[in-house]
Amino acid sequence: MSTPVQERRLTVRDFPKGKGPFVWLTAYTAPVARLLDPHVDVLLVGDSLGMVVYGFESTIPVTLDMMVAHGAAVVRATRRACVIVDMPFGSYHESPAQAFRGAARILAETGCAGVKLEGGTEMAETVRFLVQRGIPVCGHVGLMPQAVNASGFRAQGRDEREVARIMADAKAVAEVGAFAVVVEGTYEAAARAITAALPVPTIGIGASVACDGQVLVSDDVLGLFTAFKPRFVKRYAELGPLVSEAAAAYAADVRARRFPGPEHVFGVTRD
Ligand code: KIV
Repeated sequence: MSTPVQERRLTVRDFPKGKGPFVWLTAYTAPVARLLDPHVDVLLVGDSLGMVVYGFESTIPVTLDMMVAHGAAVVRATRRACVIVDMPFGSYHESPAQAFRGAARILAETGCAGVKLEGGTEMAETVRFLVQRGIPVCGHVGLMPQAVNASGFRAQGRDEREVARIMADAKAVAEVGAFAVVVEGTYEAAARAITAALPVPTIGIGASVACDGQVLVSDDVLGLFTAFKPRFVKRYAELGPLVSEAAAAYAADVRARRFPGPEHVFGVTRD
């Protein structure tokens, strides 16, 4: 009799350079994470949840408590994917010690495999501090949504100077031990050069096919987030209109007093 193979949860060691492309998607809640789990390598509990789940205009108001609550829900609901949780704005910028306290809390209270933080050369010391103390870190360079107030949301790597800056940022966090680097909103030539230069995988979002993998916001991919659609997103479903139609059909039933009776609810029929 053969013993069934117990599928183990993936870790940050399962994504070596050259073995991609790696499939990343964001997840914020237990039911959606459960559905995505069998299909992806990494579930990123992104601070994009500020906009997608909480309706904020940016990721700035997201708190550590929010990231911990959603990270724990995603870990509880999944068995296979490597779960990475974003460090929110203000939780790691002050000092490496502050970053360590936040990251340690995220790891301990969610059970996730590692954290992601935005920043390049200016964050290298912090990334080194975390990695040396046993916290796997994913970098995030190029367009950095937490810097929206300083630099806005615009594509990066337009000219040689910008490409050189993003390259230096990516190298800086990779050299101090980041296990992967998210490259966001970056022109293809820059993404290609960075991917060729780094010893760790690059994970692109709006950064072309030149990266070692891709991450997208799941609500964009599923057609659930309809406030706007980034140009680089391919929608694989249009769940927004389906939800709307279902709600309208439900409302029509209730208004017409077509409530399901207890026999439907409990699965029993009356004599
Ligand atoms: O917060 C987020 O969703 C991200 C992206 C890279 C998808 O950081």
